[in-house]
Amino acid sequence: MARIAMLGSGFIGRFYTESLHGLRSKDRVVAVYSRNGDNAKKYADDYQVPFWTTDMEEAIRHPDVDIVCISLPNNLHLPAVEACAKYKKAVMVTKPLGRTAEEGLKMLHIIEEAGIFGGYLEDLCYTPKFLKAKATCDSGALGRILWARSRETHPGPHSDWFWDKNQAGGGAILDLGCHCVEISRNFIGKDVRPVEVMCWAETQVKPIDAEDHAIALVRYATGAIAQFEVSWTFRGGLDLRDEVMGSEGTIWINNFLRTGFEMFLSGEGSNYVAEKAESTSGWLFPVGDEVHELGYNTMFADMLNSFEQGKQPSETFYDGYVVNAILDAAYRSAASRQWEPVQLSEWRGRDDIKPVLPFKDFDEHHYYIKEEVTHDGLDVLILRHKESGQIVRKLK
Ligand SMILES: NC(=O)c1ccc[n+]([C@@H]2O[C@H](COP(=O)([O-])OP(=O)(O)OC[C@H]3O[C@@H](n4cnc5c(N)ncnc54)[C@H](O)[C@@H]3O)[C@@H](O)[C@H]2O)c1
Repeated sequence: MARIAMLGSGFIGRFYTESLHGLRSKDRVVAVYSRNGDNAKKYADDYQVPFWTTDMEEAIRHPDVDIVCISLPNNLHLPAVEACAKYKKAVMVTKPLGRTAEEGLKMLHIIEEAGIFGGYLEDLCYTPKFLKAKATCDSGALGRILWARSRETHPGPHSDWFWDKNQAGGGAILDLGCHCVEISRNFIGKDVRPVEVMCWAETQVKPIDAEDHAIALVRYATGAIAQFEVSWTFRGGLDLRDEVMGSEGTIWINNFLRTGFEMFLSGEGSNYVAEKAESTSGWLFPVGDEVHELGYNTMFADMLNSFEQGKQPSETFYDGYVVNAILDAAYRSAASRQWEPVQLSEWRGRDDIKPVLPFKDFDEHHYYIKEEVTHDGLDVLILRHKESGQIVRKLK
């Protein structure tokens, strides 16, 4: 059993608690911190949490607490991690780890120097569909991974602080791009160096200083390309889609909207449909079990099993730092309108990877391009002569 202190009683703190306490779980939140006493008390009542406080350090150092879960605005992740290190408490941090790679690296060093467990709460790398897709990539069934694409778009976040660039550290790129980047890293290989980023970003609709819409390409050392598409201006709910294409296969994932569950309501008496759903009447696209389908259950199982067994979880502070470094490069690229290098002062992956010659041999003299059975029933081969470079068509 893990005994948890929850820092923050807002949107994600509640989702996390429903996962931690759900399905007869043995794990319990035993202390909650919120800056507002009424919110802390309400959360404690809602989830039968025995201790609440408006003093963050009091929750962290509480003698019943084994591990701390940071569910606070982005600018408070670093001070909260510092406080956990002070009391030598294990810690899990929601995404993004830092507002910048500099903050992310600081947090990584803090937990390593304190010798405490650290987990990065990247739930979208734990959804049931994602885990199956990743296992398929890891098995080699997709061949060489060439392209990974991830999209998170919705009509914008629910709390004031997200819209304030200082507290949030950025806009849609940091808030949503962190998920997309880590999804692609998992498909392409976390030990593959992200090399450079090209990013377009604009403030298209909302009256804010940060970007509300962005699209970026991230090039990796294997030659693989990752693409992320993020927006706080999308209308129609929460769109969470991933694609991965390899030399031997393709996977498309839709995690949230239109996943095969469709409902019609007149609007009389309906209320909550799904996270960021914009409508409660007409044809609706609910989600069966949001807590599970968004990956929270599997994520906490990995985090708390790893904590108890003294090993690293699948998503670590180091991963959070690499994600921050890629997003920093995206911001630089959006400003410079050029490809910008990913600056990783600390790289723990491989550096011996060279882009491979992509050609497949057909026979001694030819490379294989493709084979197709045509409409008129012919089995056609397209080949390239190795020396002359000539393209030839043959019937099989
Ligand atoms: N899928 C996900 O992983 C996911 C989803 C949503 C949010 N998040 C992350 O969770 C964190 C919190 O987001 P949220 O959506 O729960 O926000 P929220 O506004 O709903 O809740 C934030 C909590 O922090 C408290 N808080 C706000 N400002 C504070 C301050 N200045 N000092 C002390 N406490 C303060 C609030 O009172 C509240 O309890 C963010 O880092 C966000 O990126 C992750």
